[in-house]
Amino acid sequence: THVVTDNCRGCRYTDCVAQCPVACFHVNEARVYINPGVCIDCGACIPACPVHAIVEEFDLAEDQQHWIGINAEAATRYPSIRARMAPLEGADDRRRALGY
Ligand code: F3S
Repeated sequence: THVVTDNCRGCRYTDCVAQCPVACFHVNEARVYINPGVCIDCGACIPACPVHAIVEEFDLAEDQQHWIGINAEAATRYPSIRARMAPLEGADDRRRALGY
């Protein structure tokens, strides 16, 4: 499965959502998550994210492993998102701070 890591928080660009063919994304006030039971591993979302927040599970660094469980749990709690929405206020500032 694919996993949304920390860089999404405070940005929430949702370009990833626009590329997803199976509606595996879920959203809250700060970021998105991927439902591992729905993701088909197509990889379309990875290059779409301006802050490189999405990582294939097997490519996660040691200190990113906890994002697997966080995504799985959050996907059960937050509503599905199927269409792009406006980025969060300050998203571009955070993107620059992240070096992208
Ligand atoms: Fe987040 Fe990147 Fe998608 S910032 S909403 S993972 S395009």
